[in-house]
Amino acid sequence: MIATNREDELEGADVRRTRDRDEADEESRRRAVPRDHVVVRGAVGDDLSGVLSVGHRTWPATYEPIAGPEYVAMGLAKWWTSDVITDSIRKGRTLVAVEGDDVVGVATFGAQDESFVLWKLYVLPGHHGRGIGSRLMDAVVARAREGEHRRITLSYLEGNQMAARFYAGRGFVETHRERPGSGLPESVWMVLELETGESA
Ligand SMILES: CC(C)(COP(=O)(O)OP(=O)(O)OC[C@H]1O[C@@H](n2cnc3c(N)ncnc32)[C@H](O)[C@@H]1OP(=O)(O)O)[C@@H](O)C(=O)NCCC(=O)NCCS
Repeated sequence: MIATNREDELEGADVRRTRDRDEADEESRRRAVPRDHVVVRGAVGDDLSGVLSVGHRTWPATYEPIAGPEYVAMGLAKWWTSDVITDSIRKGRTLVAVEGDDVVGVATFGAQDESFVLWKLYVLPGHHGRGIGSRLMDAVVARAREGEHRRITLSYLEGNQMAARFYAGRGFVETHRERPGSGLPESVWMVLELETGESA
């Protein structure tokens, strides 16, 4: 009897779970954004190859058209090596967006002078527009707040319209530009002021 009741309860639970699942599936279909399959977390040592892969797959697509293959080769050799990424992971300065076993997005950050700098934000081309960049950005902002930083700075290369739109849409405003010379596009620096929660 008790067993039967339990079974009934379990069946009831199964029906509820099925209904909940159906509603979640419907919501997911409606938004066409299966965000719940993507986890954003701090990177660990095992993420190294996934992080490197994101860099090596996003850089050519992003920068070859606006800065050329030599710039891409330079950037990958300078900023996307095992040593650089391992150091960033060890220091707790790398976030990953993971779907299943795959790293599909990466953000790295660090402190420089008074600022909290977002150094890298890259989502694999096939995954753009799914909210992954926004979730990584939210996590970066949370880290900056935890560290009681008052602002986040970043730069993108002039001509990277996707980045320009994305950052402007998240409240970043341009502060200044740097000319690297050698025919390369300018670096556009932006800032996001974080509210401190203090009353004026
Ligand atoms: C910039 C970038 C990190 C944003 O990541 P993302 O996961 O595409 O971002 P989201 O999905 O959260 O938001 C993208 C925005 O574009 C819109 N969008 C819709 N479809 C899109 C698509 N197919 N591709 C890109 N954006 C799309 C989204 O709706 C969203 O609009 P919103 O800004 O009004 O909210 C990502 O596009 C990227 O990695 N770009 C190439 C690398 C790069 O330039 N990095 C920045 C270096 S400074």
